[in-house]
Amino acid sequence: MAIRPITDVDLRNKRVMIRADLNVPIANGKVTNDIRIMAALKGIRYCLDQGAAVLVLSHLGRPKEGQFDPALSLAPVARRLAEMVDARVLLKKDWLDGVEVQPGEVVLCENVRFNRGEKANNEFLAKQMAQLCDVFVMDAFGTAHRAHASTAGVAEYAKEACAGPLLMAELEALGQALRDPARPMLAIVGGSKVSGKLEVLSALSRRVNQLIVGGGICNTFIAAAGFEVGKSLYEPDLIESARSVISAAKMAGGEVPIPQDVVVARELSAEARSFVKPVDQVLADEMILDIGPKALERIKGMVASARTIVWNGPLGVFEIDQFGEGTKGLAEAVAASSAFSIAGGGDTLAALDKYGLANEVSYISTGGGAFLEFLQGKPLPGVMALKRD
Ligand code: 3PG
Repeated sequence: MAIRPITDVDLRNKRVMIRADLNVPIANGKVTNDIRIMAALKGIRYCLDQGAAVLVLSHLGRPKEGQFDPALSLAPVARRLAEMVDARVLLKKDWLDGVEVQPGEVVLCENVRFNRGEKANNEFLAKQMAQLCDVFVMDAFGTAHRAHASTAGVAEYAKEACAGPLLMAELEALGQALRDPARPMLAIVGGSKVSGKLEVLSALSRRVNQLIVGGGICNTFIAAAGFEVGKSLYEPDLIESARSVISAAKMAGGEVPIPQDVVVARELSAEARSFVKPVDQVLADEMILDIGPKALERIKGMVASARTIVWNGPLGVFEIDQFGEGTKGLAEAVAASSAFSIAGGGDTLAALDKYGLANEVSYISTGGGAFLEFLQGKPLPGVMALKRD
């Protein structure tokens, strides 16, 4: 069953509700990274250009349902959105009982997660949302893995429901990487914990030709290979799981390379003294905080020969420069590669941004968890809800 794209729906003089993912970092009342707002603009502008009255829904953070939390208000997002969309954007605090909005106007409805029943996909709440619009547009790829009232339930009850341009673009780019990828296919999965990414690691180990693990995840794999990891962040309970991922990769004809050298320090701080050493010489009081130069050279070789690359998660603590060389080198290698490359997840995008390489990747996904679930081949509830007879 196909999904209806927004371009197939007549929006003129209609009340259109767009579910966007405007869950962006905010500090001191200001949006500090507007990549997601930028990505949502295309859908909002399209609706305005078509002569629609536009209601925008989004969550911000993870507030306690049923109560307003000023720290998680969308007010800073409304201000930034108004600057970017070049139209008046009104923030509506209590919106479930009705919203005044005219064609050509944008109303941003306050954080959907302040509503009781949002996360449980409460039917009454979903119907209340659906009644506010003629057309529901799902454009929040970053939240499409959540079966919530504003992502899935509302689509069932709205008179018409369709997919926005961002959702369509994400599904197409990620689908291209997974359906019939040009091979060899390389996946890079970094980040702090195996536990959060075990499923994606298992799925990818069977699917890709080469899997590179980084960050705290890599430390668990280093321990699984029998090396001392000292005080490094790692998960002893998941050593067996890491071994299973290594075996699955071998059975699929690939491997999960263990770095031959690493960058260590005795403390995690910008002032810490760092050392490069062979992976078998890490001391009990040291922490592994990045891969070493030899390991990086090997990874660069893998990146250079890959024809499809998916990347989620840094290789080290790149926020501190002396532990960032691995991630920087990887970002440069991905940028220089002619492979079809996709990067997703907040830390990965922050790293690409830091090294000025965000425009050098074939496709930047706005999804974190949604990106990972898609890579596992899981159906996304926010997409499934759009599939009508
Ligand atoms: C994200 O930041 O990955 C999305 O906005 C989803 O947020 P959530 O994990 O709080 O559902």
